[in-house]
Amino acid sequence: MKIRQFRYGADNLGYLVYTGSTAMAIDGVAPEEILSFAESQNLQLAYVTNTHSHMDHTTGNQALLNGSDAKLLDFAALLETGQVNIDGNPVRVMHTPGHTRDSVCFWFENILISGDTLFNGKVGRCFTGDFPGFLASIKQILELPPEILVYAGHDYVEEYVAFIRSMEPDNPYLDAYLKQYDPNHVCATLADERRVDPFLRFNDEKIIDILKARGLPADSELERWESLMSLM
Ligand SMILES: [Fe+2]
Repeated sequence: MKIRQFRYGADNLGYLVYTGSTAMAIDGVAPEEILSFAESQNLQLAYVTNTHSHMDHTTGNQALLNGSDAKLLDFAALLETGQVNIDGNPVRVMHTPGHTRDSVCFWFENILISGDTLFNGKVGRCFTGDFPGFLASIKQILELPPEILVYAGHDYVEEYVAFIRSMEPDNPYLDAYLKQYDPNHVCATLADERRVDPFLRFNDEKIIDILKARGLPADSELERWESLMSLM
């Protein structure tokens, strides 16, 4: 299966996932570009869906539906089936609440479309306030194969690397991570995200030391997670 990333506005990223003659738009807020790309590739848009219900991810839905015969897969439909088949190929749906209650990630082959749950460079913001739930979502993602490519809902790479540098100045992976960053095709492996993002290393000695040096609770995993969340 293939993925095409569409960039719009300052930092929003949307996606078309396709194989054979069938495609699914995820967070397709650039409907004209997506529809014309689909037409140029003889793709039929079968589904329109979202990683979560925030407006900056859903505003293209209606235009995509108007310009195609696609079916809208809302959160309830995604949860009910747990996967979407594109020309017989499964795209798995992972419910990952935390950023919002209806946040999902899409996973197929070596690709994860992570919405605002996990960005390249840092985990997303937990607007639900349910920190244990968000931790469980992130742990679910961390169980995926390390070579999986993370495609997020926004490109905040440069901002977040600067943030990590201020928090963990001796992180040896930041320069290489920035070097492979391409604003025209934003993604990185889950292994790279673990090396770079301190929020994914909530059980590492080094992160525990950083939290303790700041006088933050760090004894249990949940305490460390909540302490990390307080640094966002
Ligand atoms: Fe969001």
